[in-house]
Amino acid sequence: MEVSVDTIREFDDNKLIELIQCDDEDFEPIRIEADKVRRANYGTDVFLRGLIEFTNYCRNDCYYCGIRCSNKNANRYRLSKEEMLNACKEGYKLGYRTFVLQGGEDLFYTDDKICDIVSSIRSGYEDCAITLSIGERSYSSYKAYYEAGANRFLLRHETADEKHYSMLHPDAMSLNNRKECLFNLKNIGYQVGSGFMVGSPYQTIHNIVSDLRFLQELEPDMIGIGPYITHRDTPFNRFDNGSVKLTLRLISILRLLFPYALIPSTTALGTLSPTGREDGLKAGANVVMPNLTPVKYREKYEIYENKICTGEEAAECRGCLERRIERAGYKAVTSRGDVKK
Ligand code: 5AD
Ligand code: FES
Repeated sequence: MEVSVDTIREFDDNKLIELIQCDDEDFEPIRIEADKVRRANYGTDVFLRGLIEFTNYCRNDCYYCGIRCSNKNANRYRLSKEEMLNACKEGYKLGYRTFVLQGGEDLFYTDDKICDIVSSIRSGYEDCAITLSIGERSYSSYKAYYEAGANRFLLRHETADEKHYSMLHPDAMSLNNRKECLFNLKNIGYQVGSGFMVGSPYQTIHNIVSDLRFLQELEPDMIGIGPYITHRDTPFNRFDNGSVKLTLRLISILRLLFPYALIPSTTALGTLSPTGREDGLKAGANVVMPNLTPVKYREKYEIYENKICTGEEAAECRGCLERRIERAGYKAVTSRGDVKK
């Protein structure tokens, strides 16, 4: 199959499926092509994003997620503004120029609180990007955070198929809302990230094609994908984990479809395979997200089981990742790493 940045855009659904499902030896040249495209756009640079998991309270009840509101075994926590600013301080010393504030959908953090936190980080770290990953909120809320100094927003669509979406989420949530949020974020001016889980329960190959098509419509700046990983305290606890191999293939396909995109090699990949994050980089990813959450909270942010990096101090994660990036043949850089479109 002749696969390049120019040809893959014209692939129909059947051709995409054939590509996703081809034999290993047929896929290797495609991975190499994806790596070439990544190097043409970003060289060997791998951008670091300091991740602060600031609350595991969540009003939602997604069937796949370990911090869903009805999980009574989850030990809930919230970071104070001071703890968040301390994490940023530590991250800045380690060279991080992006802070990602991620949490469950926790309305304890009102618009005023979020704006206050964002503007404090903004005034302390003018040269840094601030990324929010806090789920669905109104247009006016998103706008207020942007005006307070947030630059980027991560909100995975999870699955672009209406029926599949309703199998992963309770009725209170809808794919339409999710999409509206994503387009609102884009209109406001955020660099927007979306993405999906690979191998989530009931996912079909056609769902994956819908995910790629939706991303083509949204044209996000950042695309995060990772294998689904089961969690004992969810209704999906009997389902298998997603496939690392399929995730890696999809990273390569995403790199070819979106040459400019910022694509993380995710913690979920590293959780299912000891070389998962290195392999993700070799497949076309160019971002890693070291954990900056204070260690005492790490284990509590358990969206899936056996999550890695829960015991390591921020500096240890920094060193570990730098070595991994170098082993894979790339270079950790400390620039802000905005999208090159
Ligand atoms: N396995 C893998 N990824 C998960 N996420 C949530 N639950 C799981 C799970 N069990 C992903 C979702 C969410 C992101 C923060 O983590 O895609 O958007
Ligand atoms: Fe956190 Fe390896 S990246 S310990």
